[in-house]
Amino acid sequence: TGAVTFDPGFMNTAATASAITYIDGDAGVLRYRGYPIEQLAEHSSFLEVSYLLIYGNLPTPTELENFDSKIRRHTLLHEELKGFFNGFPRDAHPMPVLSSAVSALSTFYQDSLDPFDDEQVELSTIRLMAKLPVIAAYAHKKSIGQALLYPDNSMNLVENFLRLSFGLAAEPYELDPTVVKALDLLLILHADHEQNCSTSTVRLVGSSNANMFASISAGINALFGPLHGGANEAVLNMLRQIQATGQTPEQFMEKVKNKEEGVRLMGFGHRVYKNYDPRARLVKYTAHEILGKLGGNDELLDIALRLEEKALADDYFIERKLYPNVDFYTGLIYKAMGFPEKMFTVLFAIGRLPGWIAQWREMIKDPQTKIGRPRQLYVGEHERNYPVR
Ligand code: CMC
Repeated sequence: TGAVTFDPGFMNTAATASAITYIDGDAGVLRYRGYPIEQLAEHSSFLEVSYLLIYGNLPTPTELENFDSKIRRHTLLHEELKGFFNGFPRDAHPMPVLSSAVSALSTFYQDSLDPFDDEQVELSTIRLMAKLPVIAAYAHKKSIGQALLYPDNSMNLVENFLRLSFGLAAEPYELDPTVVKALDLLLILHADHEQNCSTSTVRLVGSSNANMFASISAGINALFGPLHGGANEAVLNMLRQIQATGQTPEQFMEKVKNKEEGVRLMGFGHRVYKNYDPRARLVKYTAHEILGKLGGNDELLDIALRLEEKALADDYFIERKLYPNVDFYTGLIYKAMGFPEKMFTVLFAIGRLPGWIAQWREMIKDPQTKIGRPRQLYVGEHERNYPVR
């Protein structure tokens, strides 16, 4: 079998070639299909970025309109799938609800499961783009004990998601353009990030020729972990805890540096970025703007800003090249929009969806794809005989 390379955590192993996202971690550069994230953040929309990631190029106006209208037409969930939401405990975390419902799409939409049929792959692409935000909003509605609304096809994906999350059956829902714009931006910033934990999971599961729903459901579960997408929720919990216990940011930093009880500064550090995460820069700016407009919790923002300031000037963080990542400021914005903490990672999942789809599609078409099957270094017992008594 030849020599194997030992690389826990895949620190140095490229498991695939990919033409989707480029990161230069030392320079703090992120590009989707060649376009700098800063330009996309300023000029594009989440829908357009989704198209770009999935199909490889920016859409023409007609292509974008077709993509948009196909998504609008597929937002309805099968009524029996809606029944699922009654099967979970009321206080369930919406991430496992989301992954379960996405997994269940394989049972309701059996006509789009063949990974090697282009039309079916296209259909499951549109179904996921249309239905995942609806599932996410329903998971939220259920958790607060409110009735589920039907999607409104006169709205685009982001608008519809907001209405399904916050609208009430008896009242018309008025969209706040500040919230729509900010959410759209945050979704763009989360849309892809090359071979991160959840995306690698999507590819690994897909490499066994599992269908797209199954692969992406697995990716959602990977995203749930606090070292990955769950960090946005963990950051807010950390800020609240600092506020509640009356610690100064300096006292909290001491705990982090002494590695007391494994405390980490959540929202800091990244496997690839050894410089300021370009997404965090854009989010930080938006946090100021949106908290100014919507009146978020300024005290928590102050704590976050002070933690960042301390960390960037501290040898512990400088030596280890730890900078704020995308998750450091997002929670404050989501909170100001009215989302509970439990929904933060779900919002990440909505943003990451086009990336997962694009990566799955690239994987399935790549002639170099083989079933993902890492090797190991065996460190267990030598052969020993079963004691026959
Ligand atoms: N606070 C304190 N120390 C840290 C932190 C942190 N946030 N992150 C890394 N370190 C230390 C770590 O203890 C280690 O120190 P030492 O060399 O003394 O053992 C050193 O920095 C290297 O850390 P690592 O854990 O080996 O680095 P990694 O590349 O395996 O982990 C990470 C990357 C993102 C998991 C880690 O930085 C972390 O746990 N950060 C906090 C969680 C977080 O914010 N995650 C979101 C990541 S970005 C978006 C996403 O993927 O969702």
